[in-house]
Amino acid sequence: MKKVLITGASGFVGSFLVEAFLAADPDLKVYAGVRKTSSRKFLTDDRIHFFEMDFSNQKKLEKDLGEQEFNYVIHNAGLTKADRKKDFFLVNRDYTENLIKALPKETETFEKFIFISSMAAYGPADNMPGDLVKESDTPRPIDTYGESKLAAESMIKTYKKLPYLIFRPTAVYGPREKDIYTFFTILKKGVEPYIGLKEQELTFIYVKDLAKLIVTATLSEHTQKSYFVADDQVYSNYDLGKYGKAYLKKKALKIKVPTTLVRGIGYFNEAVGRLTGKMPILNLEKVKFLESLNWKCDIRPLKTDFNFTPTYNLSTGLKETIAWYQEEGWL
Ligand SMILES: NC(=O)c1ccc[n+]([C@@H]2O[C@H](COP(=O)([O-])OP(=O)(O)OC[C@H]3O[C@@H](n4cnc5c(N)ncnc54)[C@H](OP(=O)(O)O)[C@@H]3O)[C@@H](O)[C@H]2O)c1
Repeated sequence: MKKVLITGASGFVGSFLVEAFLAADPDLKVYAGVRKTSSRKFLTDDRIHFFEMDFSNQKKLEKDLGEQEFNYVIHNAGLTKADRKKDFFLVNRDYTENLIKALPKETETFEKFIFISSMAAYGPADNMPGDLVKESDTPRPIDTYGESKLAAESMIKTYKKLPYLIFRPTAVYGPREKDIYTFFTILKKGVEPYIGLKEQELTFIYVKDLAKLIVTATLSEHTQKSYFVADDQVYSNYDLGKYGKAYLKKKALKIKVPTTLVRGIGYFNEAVGRLTGKMPILNLEKVKFLESLNWKCDIRPLKTDFNFTPTYNLSTGLKETIAWYQEEGWL
């Protein structure tokens, strides 16, 4: 029986990756890589094997991975928010390298290392020569999170014999997600808030489509390649409000806050953050994201290599997502 390990299995994307691998092949043993402290709320299927990991303990990591002989490792654990910028590099780059060093060497059994990076590693298309971000562009991340993901990618590529694949999803949404969710909690209260006066071109991927794609890619013959992941449609930032209001059956007052004002708040928040050691949610890096107008990316390689056809678009994905938030009492 082949074995797959999914790190960061307790998180939003990780829990769906576990489900997708369980559904893909009954002969595959699925290991959820978790910390001692990780929630197991969304890991209730009794076919799941748990594998406790501490990426900072290299010796133990090597011993534990050596004993298991996984065939596939999906490295999805990652830090998306942090008080200290250096923590992004520690978790997203250094811990990824610790994991790679602990993988079985010189063995026929190990077939694939998948790294869940982010479109943030390249940054928005605003800064690119074309109208969308593609593999051949020079990466221009606009925040520390993106820089750390790019640093991890560069490190991975130095392991010339590693059968890796890198995936850079755009914004992922779906049940259990907690960031885009915040927008719907405000919408439910009758306010439709937007930062910036200009319309943005956004891209999204529904979590179930992403998880299915990762399964296909893991079992494919492709290695040593990188891909952007989106659902192949371009949305406006106002579409979240449009679908949100329709599915919540709510009217809401549209409010647009100019980015100049938000940048001022960002400066102030960061100054306070430097004193308290806590990075505020609205910081200058976040403002740069909100100011970027074009988040389109090239997914043609996904179609060529994996025949990727997303099942969901933003309308059908949000319908399912909002229904889940309501059923679970989140909305
Ligand atoms: N959500 C998106 O829109 C999006 C877009 C592009 C890429 N991604 C990437 O997708 C991956 C999953 O993101 P997510 O949205 O599912 O985030 P999430 O819900 O915050 O999950 C993050 C996972 O990583 C684990 N983790 C974080 N720091 C760790 C550490 N130091 N040691 C071990 N495990 C650690 C967490 O474990 P605990 O539960 O123990 O904290 C959790 O399981 C990340 O690599 C992220 O960069 C996400």
